[in-house]
Amino acid sequence: MDIITLNPFHAPAIALLHGGCFSHGWDEDAMSSLMGLPGTFGYAAIEEGEPMGFILGRAAADEFEVLTLCVLAQARRRGLASGLLSAALNEARRRGAVRAWLEVAEDNPAAIAFYKKQGFALSGRRPGYYAGNETRERTDALVYSRGLDGG
Ligand SMILES: CC(C)(COP(=O)(O)OP(=O)(O)OC[C@H]1O[C@@H](n2cnc3c(N)ncnc32)[C@H](O)[C@@H]1OP(=O)(O)O)[C@@H](O)C(=O)NCCC(=O)NCCS
Repeated sequence: MDIITLNPFHAPAIALLHGGCFSHGWDEDAMSSLMGLPGTFGYAAIEEGEPMGFILGRAAADEFEVLTLCVLAQARRRGLASGLLSAALNEARRRGAVRAWLEVAEDNPAAIAFYKKQGFALSGRRPGYYAGNETRERTDALVYSRGLDGG
């Protein structure tokens, strides 16, 4: 696996990846705007020349937020998300962040297991944060965080 730094020219490829991972993917314009916000940065994981996953995050003051992280289904459980998160947390530390935050849907056990393994602890809940659709009720977001000192 190679990890590359994202720039706004990657927005179309990243929007495709996001759509491959989430039922309501962010489109290219949304991805471009997000990637252009101050403090936003990200990485993609490349295998055999193909992007298989990515992370986008934002550092502001002394905090870092994971905006999104996804790996295509066929490439999961091979450490790609771990590598992406580690790259992002290192950059966040370099930019002066001392704590990392993220939100995850409470009905996403894979992501919750992943973040717990990465040292994140439950820090709050946002009731009904994620919109529902025909097949899914409104869902609570769980807020997880971890300190960034000590690696
Ligand atoms: C969550 C996600 C990013 C994990 O990506 P990944 O590349 O498979 O993660 P890794 O291979 O680095 O996993 C590291 C560890 O996390 C835990 N983990 C990851 N996926 C898990 C799962 N489905 N069930 C239980 N534990 C899991 C395991 O401890 C794993 O180590 P192991 O494989 O040695 O047991 C991926 O499943 C995904 O993209 N899901 C859809 C999008 C999403 O939910 N994103 C997060 C919310 S923003």
